[in-house]
Amino acid sequence: MTTAVVSKSELTTQIHELARRKNAVILAHNYQWPEVQDVAHHVGDSLGLSIIAEKSDADIIVFCGVHFMAESAKVLSPNKKVLLPNLAAGCSLADSITPESLTEWKERYPGHTVVTYVNSSAEVKALSDICCTSANAVSVVRSLPTDKILFTPDRNLGRWVADQLPEKDVVIYDGCCPIHDVLRGANVEQVHRTTPDSVVIAHPECREDIIAMADMVCSTTGMLKAVEQFPDAKTYIIATENGMIHQLKKQYPDKEFVLADGCIGCRLNCPYMKAITLEDVERSLREEVFEVDVPPDVIIGARRSLERMIAVPRDN
Ligand code: 13P
Repeated sequence: MTTAVVSKSELTTQIHELARRKNAVILAHNYQWPEVQDVAHHVGDSLGLSIIAEKSDADIIVFCGVHFMAESAKVLSPNKKVLLPNLAAGCSLADSITPESLTEWKERYPGHTVVTYVNSSAEVKALSDICCTSANAVSVVRSLPTDKILFTPDRNLGRWVADQLPEKDVVIYDGCCPIHDVLRGANVEQVHRTTPDSVVIAHPECREDIIAMADMVCSTTGMLKAVEQFPDAKTYIIATENGMIHQLKKQYPDKEFVLADGCIGCRLNCPYMKAITLEDVERSLREEVFEVDVPPDVIIGARRSLERMIAVPRDN
C-alpha cells in the first residue's frame, strides 16, 4: 500500500479546517520550526502565550512549544483541553529541578522567597512563591517585599537578575539551558568580527560573558521590539535558539540577522523545541493527542505562582 504524500500547503489547509471545526487555537513558541510558526494562530514567548491561552475562548489549545508551556496553559485554563503535538517536546532545563531537589534547596536556605522560572514543572511551580519569565524576571524579583531570594532553576538568568538588583541577596540554583549555555563570548566575538557594525541581542539564558557584550538582553518577544531601538543598524547578531530568526526576518525583511553560534555545525537548534512537525500538529488536532493533564492540587499551587507573576508588568 502506498501512502499519498501531502504537501505543506495541503497540510496547512487541513490543520486550519480542523482547528475551525473543533474551535481550537494553535499557539507556537518563537523557537518552533518556521512552518509550525506559520500555521499557528499566535506566535510568541512563554509569558505572552500563556496569557493568550488563558484569555482564549477556544475549547482546545494546541501548544506547539515544550511540555512546561503546555502545562502552564492547562494550569491557567483547567477547563480547556490542552494538547502537546509530540511528547518528545520536553525541556532539559525544566528537568534539572525536581520537587525533591527544590525542597532540599528550600531547607538549605530557610526564609528565602522562591522565584522559579517558568521553565519548570507544574509541581515545582506549586512549591515556589512566584514564577517569572525572561520577559519579567527583574520586575518580579524587584516587586518582592523580601531581600532574600532563592532563584531557580536557570543560573544564567538568575545571575543576570542579581546583577541588576544588587540590593537583593540572590541564591541561585545550578540549572541551565544547554542551547544558550554552549555559547561563549569567543563565539560571539568571532561572528562580530565578520560584521563589525552589528548589534548584539542576547537572551538572558546566555552566559555572563555574552551578556556583558550584548547591546540588549531580552526575552524572545523582546528581541522583536529590540530591533526598533537600533534603527540604523543593518545586521543583528542573535544569541538564542535558531527558530527566533524566522519571526525576525518576517517582521524586518530588509534587515540581516546572524545567529551567534560561532560553533560551526551546532546552529543552536533545540532538539525539544524542534520535536514538533506540521504532521504532528495535524495528527494532534485530528486525534486530539497528546492531552496534557495536571492534578487538581498541583493546579492550585502552580496557578497561585503563575498568577502572582502575571500581575507584575513585563520588563521587555
Ligand atoms: P522566552 O520566554 O523568552 O520566549 O524564552 C523561553 C525559553 O524557553 C528560552 O529558552
